[in-house]
Amino acid sequence: MLGKSIIGMENFSAEEIRLVLTTARKMKQVIRRGGEKKLSNLRGKSIVNLFYEPSTRTRTSFELAGKYLGADVVSINSGTSSIVKGESLRDTLRTIEAMGVDAIVMRHKAEGAADFASRVVKPVIINAGDGAHAHPSQALLDLFTIEQRKGRLAGLKVAIVGDILHSRVARSDVYAMTKMGMEVHLAGPKTLLPRFFEFDGVTVHEELEDAIKSADVINVLRIQLERQQAGLFPSTREYARVFGINDDRLILAKDDVLILHPGPQNKGLEISSEVTYGEHSAIHDQVQNGVAVRMALLDLTLNSN
Ligand code: NCD
Repeated sequence: MLGKSIIGMENFSAEEIRLVLTTARKMKQVIRRGGEKKLSNLRGKSIVNLFYEPSTRTRTSFELAGKYLGADVVSINSGTSSIVKGESLRDTLRTIEAMGVDAIVMRHKAEGAADFASRVVKPVIINAGDGAHAHPSQALLDLFTIEQRKGRLAGLKVAIVGDILHSRVARSDVYAMTKMGMEVHLAGPKTLLPRFFEFDGVTVHEELEDAIKSADVINVLRIQLERQQAGLFPSTREYARVFGINDDRLILAKDDVLILHPGPQNKGLEISSEVTYGEHSAIHDQVQNGVAVRMALLDLTLNSN
């Protein structure tokens, strides 16, 4: 994967996914061993985080991942850069490239922005979310978390619930999970269910119960209020009543069902507090695993040693 830009899970083979998961397992040991975490794998490399949309987890974990591997990492916030003066994406990318960086980790509201970047500049581009299109590092950390908790991926039944239409996480999860032999069920209000997911290994349900029945994993999506045109669902209270994941609903799933949520959560809307903090939740693990998986991605694409 050396020199490869990471744009979406559709471009990954099952072998590459396996390689990321194996590498992430080693990286997690580095994070957990305490004391000195800094490796020298990426010493002398420089990485710029270029985020045009808000982020807590993804930006911080990419930044720490680069630093734990010994790279120099700089984060640019759209609000405090020349972007507010109207500089184009192409010019911003060229400016960063001219400073001699090896990788640009990028989040942008437009679908295709990361792919565009990979065509106009030479550094490795890592897509940290482009509109509703893709969020590959999230899908990989979801797989990693599931495998760590369940011991396997193939054959597991996963329900992805909520705002499928606007979710780059759902889209990347669907590609990643089906490639690893998982059975994917999608559920949400009819207005938030796209048709383009109708392919082998994926079943789309309008009733939540049909999707979560005997599920091994439920991935609860955030309602993307900022990407909604008004009126895709009647009210937040109605949504919580029909599609919200709470303890009562978990009874339908397997006894040892695992709950994921990419964060940030709308508590009481798509997920209840008791589920977030309950025994089935792996939401906290996802955050730590996010650093390990991003270390793996940076190491595999940038480390030539
Ligand atoms: C996700 C994102 O930004 O796509 N969050 C994240 O990266 N942790 C999901 C979301 O915002 O709902």
